[in-house]
Amino acid sequence: MKIALGCDHGGYLLKEEVKNYLSQKGILFEDFGCHSTESCDYPDMAEAPCAAVISGSCDFALLFCGTGIGISIAANKHKGIRAACCSDCFSARATRLHNNANVLCMGGRVVGPGLAIQMVEEFLAADFEGGRHQRRVDKLTALEQ
Ligand code: RB5
Repeated sequence: MKIALGCDHGGYLLKEEVKNYLSQKGILFEDFGCHSTESCDYPDMAEAPCAAVISGSCDFALLFCGTGIGISIAANKHKGIRAACCSDCFSARATRLHNNANVLCMGGRVVGPGLAIQMVEEFLAADFEGGRHQRRVDKLTALEQ
């Protein structure tokens, strides 16, 4: 498994915390930036990690901005991306089970590192349930046309 990481300045510090966690766990990742708290634009920062997920070079992306919202909106503009902005563990797990989400977004000004890491654990451990949820995800895909 390989994870794409991306953030703007508002999510930079939380991205670094999650990156440390992934390193400690030996989980492969590619960090597409940004690489400091210098101001940048979240739509730009979502692009490369989403492209990595769409191409299959990464399995999932973890994206961060101040709220998690802007970068999730940006991510969801990319065909094939199902990004969920979460701030609780239940949703982080449920979005894998039900929505087959391939991107988890979090807000560096919303959640602390402990909760963020727990959400990442839930997200990465859960598998899509398929069945009736597949029909619904197919309808999401149809909306992209
Ligand atoms: C940047 O200040 C902030 O607007 C951005 O990180 C994010 O919260 C947008 O949704």
